[in-house]
Amino acid sequence: LKVTFVQQDGVEKTIEGLEPGQSLMEVGRNNGVDGILGDCGGSCACATCHVYIEPEWQAAVGAPDEVETATLDMAGDVLKPNSRLCCQIALRPELDGLRMRVAPGM
Ligand code: FES
Repeated sequence: LKVTFVQQDGVEKTIEGLEPGQSLMEVGRNNGVDGILGDCGGSCACATCHVYIEPEWQAAVGAPDEVETATLDMAGDVLKPNSRLCCQIALRPELDGLRMRVAPGM
């Protein structure tokens, strides 16, 4: 499976050969994507894994749950309708090719 992160500086990082099950935060952090910090280790408490899902992928990715929505509020002004915390998205076959933009840091 592969996913693409578009960094704040416009650089696109495509990571291929991924196995299902890992979180997109882990994928980003393990592959040196700028701006994916994952400070809380993926427990949905820090919002340093904030991404914007590209519109064509929003339906496949789905909406955040209540806990994630509450944490996303920490993002404040940079929150958008397509915001997600990528530690809460597990890679699965339907997401092969997913594109997302890294949100500005807090
Ligand atoms: Fe902390 Fe995602 S890594 S909320």
